[in-house]
Amino acid sequence: MKKVVTRLETFQYFYPYTVALVGALWNGRVNFLSCAWHTALSFQPPLFGVLVAKKRFSHQFLTGAGEFTVNFLGYGQSKLSARMGRTSGRDRDKVKDFKVALAPAVSIASPVVAEAYVSLECKLAEVRTFGDHDLFVGEVLAVQHDGGAFDSQGVLDTRNYPPLLYLGSDFYITAKPETLARVLPDD
Ligand SMILES: Cc1cc2nc3c(=O)[nH]c(=O)nc-3n(C[C@H](O)[C@H](O)[C@H](O)COP(=O)(O)O)c2cc1C
Repeated sequence: MKKVVTRLETFQYFYPYTVALVGALWNGRVNFLSCAWHTALSFQPPLFGVLVAKKRFSHQFLTGAGEFTVNFLGYGQSKLSARMGRTSGRDRDKVKDFKVALAPAVSIASPVVAEAYVSLECKLAEVRTFGDHDLFVGEVLAVQHDGGAFDSQGVLDTRNYPPLLYLGSDFYITAKPETLARVLPDD
């Protein structure tokens, strides 16, 4: 039997989503936040969107820098996700305090997170407001990924790179590699 919900104060029925650290260099400082609300938007040109609440400290970094990086975390990095997503750059230097190793991007000034298995380097193309969040649309100028993370078709090796999935309410899980199946439609 279906349960119907119309009081949507806790609207989080769409998880799991993968977790990325999203951030930028702005005003001589680097800040990242954990971000589960993100999506690819276009292949050609390659566009990727991240949703950042207006009240986040990071909001001004993305706006001010006009660029950002999206750094996907593995299952082993749930603590880093919790730290970057439950504390604010307003109160502390998260990169320094949580010893987040950075590496240079190849196409923009903002750094990537060294321990992410894949990082997107984005130039800000557009910002649109949707309720209490803003959609930051980035044109992906470059992607850096761990050598063994993706096969020749670009499919993630989940056995060696279990992705970090967020279920909401501070719960994390990963994908079970044994369930991997390539499924094609019958003719
Ligand atoms: C797993 C996880 C995912 C999150 N996803 C988002 C998101 O997609 N957009 C957003 O605005 N905040 C998201 N948050 C909340 C921010 O990461 C959090 O408010 C963070 O402390 C903001 O940091 P800042 O103040 O340094 O910008 C998420 C938090 C967690 C723990």
